[in-house]
Amino acid sequence: MQVTMTVNGEELTREIEPRLLLVHFLRDTLGLTGTHWGCDTSNCGVCVVLMDGEPVKSCTVLAAMAGGHEIRTIESMEQEGVLDPVQQGFTEEHGLQCGFCTPGMIMTARALLDRNPHPSDAEIREAISGQICRCTGYTNIVKAIRWAAEHEAAAAPGS
Ligand code: FES
Ligand code: FES
Repeated sequence: MQVTMTVNGEELTREIEPRLLLVHFLRDTLGLTGTHWGCDTSNCGVCVVLMDGEPVKSCTVLAAMAGGHEIRTIESMEQEGVLDPVQQGFTEEHGLQCGFCTPGMIMTARALLDRNPHPSDAEIREAISGQICRCTGYTNIVKAIRWAAEHEAAAAPGS
């Protein structure tokens, strides 16, 4: 079958098998390997991408279901050499160790800050509660997202 979707701002059409998962479409068909694949059972959250601005586990979405939608992956976050504030926050607050969970965490955090620019720590923890990090103990991930929220707020017009 043929599917058409927008990925990181670019509309594209590909021939796919109907059973193909979005995570494999992104990684294997498009070569966007920043989206990781960890479990295939909807547990780990390393595969999170944004679909129309909402975080989704791309191992639970068929590529065919993404037809007509806007997909955003970690590859879109850095623009012209400037990191997204969430990426910068992970750097500043050491929000990662091995980095395997990081793309999914960052995409979830981006969606959170887009709808709630001033989340509490509890809201940050709730947002990432569907994602597993084996390394950090989560404390620095929460700090990283808080760093991003504070710096985005400070940079906002009128602040
Ligand atoms: S690979 Fe999707 S939740 Fe683990
Ligand atoms: S940094 Fe290793 S799994 Fe999160």
